[in-house]
Amino acid sequence: MTRENLVGTLAERATLRQLQMFEAVARTGSFTQAAEEMMLAQPTVSMQLKKLADTVGATLFEQFGNSIRLTPAGRELDAACEEVFGALASLETRVADLKGLRRGRLRLAAISSATYIGPHLLGRFGQRYPGVDLSLTLTNRESLIQRIHEQHDDVYILGQPPPELDIEALPLVANPLVAVAPHDHPLVGVPRISVTRLQKEPFIMREPGSGTRATVLQLFESRGLPPPTIRMELSSTEAMKQATAAGLGISVMSLHALTLDADNGPVAVLDVQGLPLKRDWYIAYSRGRKLTVLAQAFLDFVGEVAHQIEEDFGRKIDQIRSLRKGGSAARNRRAREV
Ligand code: PGA
Repeated sequence: MTRENLVGTLAERATLRQLQMFEAVARTGSFTQAAEEMMLAQPTVSMQLKKLADTVGATLFEQFGNSIRLTPAGRELDAACEEVFGALASLETRVADLKGLRRGRLRLAAISSATYIGPHLLGRFGQRYPGVDLSLTLTNRESLIQRIHEQHDDVYILGQPPPELDIEALPLVANPLVAVAPHDHPLVGVPRISVTRLQKEPFIMREPGSGTRATVLQLFESRGLPPPTIRMELSSTEAMKQATAAGLGISVMSLHALTLDADNGPVAVLDVQGLPLKRDWYIAYSRGRKLTVLAQAFLDFVGEVAHQIEEDFGRKIDQIRSLRKGGSAARNRRAREV
């Protein structure tokens, strides 16, 4: 058979599946092992390879003692298979490249209070797709909403999405807001502090436009109280935590902001009635903007790991709660003093 004839006949009568079976038998030197590897019955493999030998027009294996070995025609076919499967494997890689899963850029924008979870998610995603560029913009709720309107980014992490936004939003993880104070503050360890009592304290507050700020102000408003005195305004939760630790006032922040601190962290969580304030974070994308393959892969990835992240943060958060509230002796002592 001429080369052209053989290629024509193979194309017409052989299947990729047969070539895979042939490759497995040639590699393992055993019909039984090849069948097991491919989760097929051994007679199926023998029958298919008999058909393949008929198509090639030559015997492919010969018995050699207890084992089998390739005939010269079999060796030629084996070399051809290596090339075919090698080419298909590199096609797979190139298609993944084209789809943007190996290169390309993912633009994530998140509210600043998600400083702790955004990089965590991107970091893990980056490990799965090492070749892609990742960018994370952190900004407050107001300017994030503006970015969504302008369809600036691929994916967003934000608090409760305003209903007028044309986005698809899925709950990501709970974002409890807690009041914190320096460790030596008289309210640390006091049980069930009232919001009225809290209102008397100077506050370190996030900047206007922040969702955290709006939620805190709402808390006082809902109790018919005037807003607390704002001693300092800061646009970064981390800076707010440090200013609180330095004794400039108390503040309300995402419990997630405390998860990366060492066990005894720079600030203590206060036991305030009605707190933690319940907020959630959502992962969202604009309905009007076509999702890139990378953005879709990120959403799938987040769906896959969200549960685990909730558990990891949940564990850490429980730990913080029990550590930072102080022991019951300190609590009772402080209750008498305040
Ligand atoms: P913020 O948003 O970072 O702007 O305070 C928090 C939220 O909306 O929950």
